[in-house]
Amino acid sequence: MDTKTLPTLPGVIQKLNTLSDNEKSSVQEMSRIVSSDQVLSARILRLANSPSYGFYRVSTISNAMILLGVNVVKSLALSSSIFAIMEKESVDLWEHSLGVGVASNLIARKLKLPECEEIATAGLLHDIGKVIISLKCSEAEKDIHKLVRERNIYALEAEQEVINTDHTEVGEWLSKSWFLPDKLSEPIACHHDVAKSKNHRIKTAVVHVADVLIKASGFGNSGDSFVPPLQNIAWDTLKLDEQLLAELVDEIEDKLVEVKNFSLEMMSD
Ligand SMILES: [Fe+2]
Ligand SMILES: [Fe+2]
Repeated sequence: MDTKTLPTLPGVIQKLNTLSDNEKSSVQEMSRIVSSDQVLSARILRLANSPSYGFYRVSTISNAMILLGVNVVKSLALSSSIFAIMEKESVDLWEHSLGVGVASNLIARKLKLPECEEIATAGLLHDIGKVIISLKCSEAEKDIHKLVRERNIYALEAEQEVINTDHTEVGEWLSKSWFLPDKLSEPIACHHDVAKSKNHRIKTAVVHVADVLIKASGFGNSGDSFVPPLQNIAWDTLKLDEQLLAELVDEIEDKLVEVKNFSLEMMSD
Protein backbone atom coordinates (compact mmCIF):
# COMPACT_ATOMS: atom_id res chain seq x y z
CA MET A 1 0.00 0.00 0.00
CA ASP A 2 1.21 3.46 -0.80
CA THR A 3 1.41 5.48 2.41
CA LYS A 4 1.75 8.75 0.57
CA THR A 5 -1.75 8.53 -0.81
CA LEU A 6 -3.55 7.69 2.42
CA PRO A 7 -6.54 9.94 2.91
CA THR A 8 -5.66 12.96 4.96
CA LEU A 9 -7.77 14.17 7.79
CA PRO A 10 -9.48 17.40 6.81
CA GLY A 11 -7.78 20.52 8.16
CA VAL A 12 -10.76 21.39 10.30
CA ILE A 13 -10.46 18.12 12.28
CA GLN A 14 -6.73 18.54 12.74
CA LYS A 15 -7.29 22.00 14.11
CA LEU A 16 -10.03 20.75 16.45
CA ASN A 17 -7.77 17.93 17.65
CA THR A 18 -4.97 20.29 18.62
CA LEU A 19 -7.35 22.76 20.24
CA SER A 20 -9.19 20.24 22.38
CA ASP A 21 -5.95 19.14 24.07
CA ASN A 22 -5.64 22.66 25.29
CA GLU A 23 -8.04 23.29 28.15
CA LYS A 24 -7.97 27.00 27.56
CA SER A 25 -9.33 26.87 24.01
CA SER A 26 -12.55 28.71 24.16
CA VAL A 27 -15.82 27.56 22.68
CA GLN A 28 -15.63 30.72 20.57
CA GLU A 29 -12.36 29.67 19.03
CA MET A 30 -13.63 26.16 18.30
CA SER A 31 -16.84 27.56 16.84
CA ARG A 32 -14.82 29.72 14.49
CA ILE A 33 -12.99 26.66 13.18
CA VAL A 34 -16.18 24.61 12.84
CA SER A 35 -17.97 27.47 11.09
CA SER A 36 -15.36 27.38 8.33
CA ASP A 37 -16.80 24.00 7.27
CA GLN A 38 -20.34 24.40 5.99
CA VAL A 39 -21.28 20.73 5.87
CA LEU A 40 -20.03 20.17 9.40
CA SER A 41 -21.80 23.30 10.65
CA ALA A 42 -25.07 22.14 9.14
CA ARG A 43 -24.76 18.71 10.76
CA ILE A 44 -23.95 20.17 14.15
CA LEU A 45 -26.92 22.52 14.00
CA ARG A 46 -29.17 19.69 12.91
CA LEU A 47 -28.04 17.50 15.79
CA ALA A 48 -28.36 20.33 18.32
CA ASN A 49 -31.93 20.91 17.15
CA SER A 50 -32.88 17.23 17.18
CA PRO A 51 -35.37 15.94 19.75
CA SER A 52 -32.72 13.84 21.54
CA TYR A 53 -31.29 17.10 22.89
CA GLY A 54 -34.63 18.49 23.96
CA PHE A 55 -36.60 20.97 21.95
CA TYR A 56 -34.16 23.81 21.99
CA ARG A 57 -33.93 26.21 19.09
CA VAL A 58 -30.25 26.62 18.39
CA SER A 59 -29.16 28.84 15.54
CA THR A 60 -25.50 29.52 16.20
CA ILE A 61 -22.56 27.15 16.21
CA SER A 62 -21.28 28.43 19.55
CA ASN A 63 -24.63 27.77 21.24
CA ALA A 64 -24.75 24.35 19.60
CA MET A 65 -21.30 23.60 20.95
CA ILE A 66 -22.32 24.65 24.45
CA LEU A 67 -25.41 22.44 24.22
CA LEU A 68 -23.76 19.38 22.69
CA GLY A 69 -20.40 19.62 24.42
CA VAL A 70 -17.01 19.84 22.80
CA ASN A 71 -16.50 16.08 22.69
CA VAL A 72 -19.75 15.39 20.85
CA VAL A 73 -18.83 18.03 18.29
CA LYS A 74 -15.40 16.46 17.86
CA SER A 75 -16.90 13.00 17.41
CA LEU A 76 -19.38 14.34 14.92
CA ALA A 77 -16.65 16.14 13.01
CA LEU A 78 -14.60 12.96 12.82
CA SER A 79 -17.54 10.77 11.89
CA SER A 80 -18.75 13.08 9.17
CA SER A 81 -15.31 13.19 7.56
CA ILE A 82 -14.97 9.42 7.90
CA PHE A 83 -18.31 9.08 6.21
CA ALA A 84 -17.08 11.22 3.33
CA ILE A 85 -14.11 8.86 3.00
CA MET A 86 -16.25 5.73 3.21
CA GLU A 87 -18.39 6.82 0.29
CA LYS A 88 -21.72 5.35 -0.51
CA GLU A 89 -20.52 1.89 -1.59
CA SER A 90 -19.40 1.10 1.93
CA VAL A 91 -22.79 1.75 3.41
CA ASP A 92 -22.89 -1.65 5.17
CA LEU A 93 -19.58 -0.95 6.85
CA TRP A 94 -20.68 2.58 7.71
CA GLU A 95 -23.82 1.22 9.39
CA HIS A 96 -21.76 -1.38 11.24
CA SER A 97 -19.38 1.36 12.43
CA LEU A 98 -22.19 3.68 13.46
CA GLY A 99 -23.84 0.78 15.33
CA VAL A 100 -20.60 -0.04 17.16
CA GLY A 101 -20.14 3.65 18.02
CA VAL A 102 -23.61 3.84 19.53
CA ALA A 103 -23.29 0.49 21.33
CA SER A 104 -19.89 1.51 22.75
CA ASN A 105 -21.44 4.69 24.09
CA LEU A 106 -24.32 2.76 25.69
CA ILE A 107 -22.01 0.21 27.30
CA ALA A 108 -19.67 2.92 28.61
CA ARG A 109 -22.59 4.82 30.15
CA LYS A 110 -24.14 1.71 31.65
CA LEU A 111 -20.81 0.81 33.28
CA LYS A 112 -20.40 4.45 34.37
CA LEU A 113 -17.00 4.72 32.71
CA PRO A 114 -15.24 8.04 32.22
CA GLU A 115 -14.81 9.50 28.70
CA CYS A 116 -17.93 7.94 27.17
CA GLU A 117 -17.70 10.19 24.09
CA GLU A 118 -14.14 9.11 23.40
CA ILE A 119 -15.18 5.46 23.73
CA ALA A 120 -18.03 6.13 21.27
CA THR A 121 -15.58 7.69 18.80
CA ALA A 122 -13.22 4.72 19.17
CA GLY A 123 -16.20 2.45 18.40
CA LEU A 124 -17.11 4.50 15.37
CA LEU A 125 -13.56 4.33 14.03
CA HIS A 126 -12.64 0.75 15.04
CA ASP A 127 -12.83 -0.70 11.50
CA ILE A 128 -11.30 2.31 9.74
CA GLY A 129 -8.57 -0.04 8.45
CA LYS A 130 -11.24 -1.76 6.33
CA VAL A 131 -12.11 1.54 4.68
CA ILE A 132 -8.47 2.04 3.75
CA ILE A 133 -8.14 -1.52 2.42
CA SER A 134 -11.21 -0.97 0.30
CA LEU A 135 -9.97 2.39 -0.99
CA LYS A 136 -6.37 1.38 -1.63
CA CYS A 137 -6.61 -2.30 -2.57
CA SER A 138 -10.01 -2.74 -4.15
CA GLU A 139 -8.93 -5.84 -6.12
CA ALA A 140 -7.51 -7.48 -3.01
CA GLU A 141 -10.67 -6.57 -1.16
CA LYS A 142 -12.69 -8.66 -3.62
CA ASP A 143 -10.34 -11.63 -3.02
CA ILE A 144 -10.75 -11.14 0.74
CA HIS A 145 -14.57 -11.25 0.47
CA LYS A 146 -14.35 -14.32 -1.76
CA LEU A 147 -12.09 -16.14 0.69
CA VAL A 148 -14.40 -15.30 3.61
CA ARG A 149 -17.35 -16.79 1.72
CA GLU A 150 -15.61 -19.87 0.32
CA ARG A 151 -13.66 -20.94 3.36
CA ASN A 152 -15.95 -19.56 6.03
CA ILE A 153 -13.13 -17.78 7.83
CA TYR A 154 -12.97 -14.40 9.56
CA ALA A 155 -12.21 -11.31 7.48
CA LEU A 156 -9.14 -10.79 9.65
CA GLU A 157 -7.66 -14.16 8.58
CA ALA A 158 -8.55 -13.61 4.95
CA GLU A 159 -6.90 -10.18 5.02
CA GLN A 160 -3.66 -11.69 6.36
CA GLU A 161 -3.71 -14.29 3.60
CA VAL A 162 -4.38 -11.88 0.76
CA ILE A 163 -2.50 -8.71 1.76
CA ASN A 164 -0.18 -9.94 4.53
CA THR A 165 -1.62 -7.48 6.99
CA ASP A 166 -5.09 -6.84 8.39
CA HIS A 167 -7.50 -4.00 9.13
CA THR A 168 -6.34 -3.66 12.75
CA GLU A 169 -2.73 -3.08 11.63
CA VAL A 170 -3.78 -0.75 8.83
CA GLY A 171 -6.06 1.11 11.26
CA GLU A 172 -3.27 1.48 13.79
CA TRP A 173 -0.96 2.78 11.11
CA LEU A 174 -3.55 5.25 9.86
CA SER A 175 -4.35 6.50 13.36
CA LYS A 176 -0.64 7.12 13.92
CA SER A 177 -0.41 9.05 10.68
CA TRP A 178 -3.46 11.09 11.72
CA PHE A 179 -1.91 11.65 15.18
CA LEU A 180 -4.99 10.28 16.90
CA PRO A 181 -4.53 9.83 20.67
CA ASP A 182 -3.76 6.36 22.14
CA LYS A 183 -7.24 6.13 23.61
CA LEU A 184 -8.53 5.94 20.03
CA SER A 185 -5.67 4.10 18.32
CA GLU A 186 -5.49 1.29 20.90
CA PRO A 187 -9.10 0.14 20.50
CA ILE A 188 -8.63 0.41 16.72
CA ALA A 189 -5.49 -1.75 16.89
CA CYS A 190 -6.64 -4.28 19.52
CA HIS A 191 -10.42 -4.72 19.17
CA HIS A 192 -9.97 -8.31 17.94
CA ASP A 193 -7.35 -9.14 20.58
CA VAL A 194 -8.12 -7.29 23.78
CA ALA A 195 -5.10 -8.81 25.59
CA LYS A 196 -2.81 -6.79 23.32
CA SER A 197 -4.19 -3.53 24.69
CA LYS A 198 -1.86 -2.20 27.39
CA ASN A 199 -2.86 1.38 28.28
CA HIS A 200 -6.55 1.53 27.34
CA ARG A 201 -7.79 -2.00 27.95
CA ILE A 202 -11.17 -0.92 29.31
CA LYS A 203 -11.93 1.20 26.23
CA THR A 204 -10.69 -1.60 23.97
CA ALA A 205 -12.85 -4.15 25.81
CA VAL A 206 -15.93 -1.94 25.38
CA VAL A 207 -15.33 -1.63 21.63
CA HIS A 208 -14.75 -5.39 21.37
CA VAL A 209 -18.02 -6.18 23.15
CA ALA A 210 -19.89 -3.56 21.09
CA ASP A 211 -18.47 -5.04 17.87
CA VAL A 212 -19.60 -8.58 18.79
CA LEU A 213 -23.07 -7.40 19.88
CA ILE A 214 -23.60 -5.36 16.72
CA LYS A 215 -22.52 -8.31 14.56
CA ALA A 216 -24.97 -10.51 16.49
CA SER A 217 -27.76 -7.96 15.99
CA GLY A 218 -27.33 -8.10 12.22
CA PHE A 219 -27.18 -4.30 11.96
CA GLY A 220 -25.01 -3.24 9.03
CA ASN A 221 -22.36 -5.62 7.75
CA SER A 222 -18.72 -5.69 8.74
CA GLY A 223 -17.73 -8.29 6.13
CA ASP A 224 -17.65 -11.29 8.49
CA SER A 225 -20.00 -14.13 7.78
CA PHE A 226 -20.40 -15.26 11.37
CA VAL A 227 -20.29 -13.75 14.85
CA PRO A 228 -17.02 -14.12 16.79
CA PRO A 229 -17.12 -15.14 20.48
CA LEU A 230 -16.83 -12.56 23.26
CA GLN A 231 -13.29 -12.78 24.61
CA ASN A 232 -13.02 -13.78 28.29
CA ILE A 233 -10.56 -10.99 28.93
CA ALA A 234 -13.12 -8.40 27.79
CA TRP A 235 -15.77 -10.00 29.98
CA ASP A 236 -13.41 -9.92 33.01
CA THR A 237 -12.06 -6.42 32.31
CA LEU A 238 -15.58 -4.97 32.26
CA LYS A 239 -16.86 -7.26 35.06
CA LEU A 240 -19.86 -8.22 32.94
CA ASP A 241 -22.52 -10.69 34.00
CA GLU A 242 -25.38 -12.40 32.17
CA GLN A 243 -28.00 -10.01 33.53
CA LEU A 244 -26.03 -6.90 32.54
CA LEU A 245 -25.39 -8.29 29.07
CA ALA A 246 -29.08 -9.08 28.56
CA GLU A 247 -30.00 -5.51 29.52
CA LEU A 248 -27.37 -4.10 27.19
CA VAL A 249 -28.64 -6.19 24.28
CA ASP A 250 -32.18 -4.83 24.83
CA GLU A 251 -31.03 -1.22 25.10
CA ILE A 252 -28.87 -1.53 21.99
CA GLU A 253 -31.75 -3.02 20.00
CA ASP A 254 -33.95 -0.03 20.91
CA LYS A 255 -31.26 2.48 20.05
CA LEU A 256 -30.55 0.89 16.65
CA VAL A 257 -33.95 1.97 15.35
CA GLU A 258 -32.95 5.61 15.92
CA VAL A 259 -29.52 4.99 14.46
CA LYS A 260 -31.01 3.56 11.28
CA ASN A 261 -32.94 6.80 10.79
CA PHE A 262 -29.87 8.92 11.50
CA SER A 263 -27.83 6.85 9.05
CA LEU A 264 -30.45 7.31 6.32
CA GLU A 265 -30.52 11.04 7.04
CA MET A 266 -26.73 11.32 6.78
CA MET A 267 -26.83 9.53 3.44
CA SER A 268 -29.40 11.90 2.05
CA ASP A 269 -26.92 14.82 2.23
FE1 LIG B 1 -12.71 -5.26 13.12
FE1 LIG C 1 -16.20 -4.31 13.43
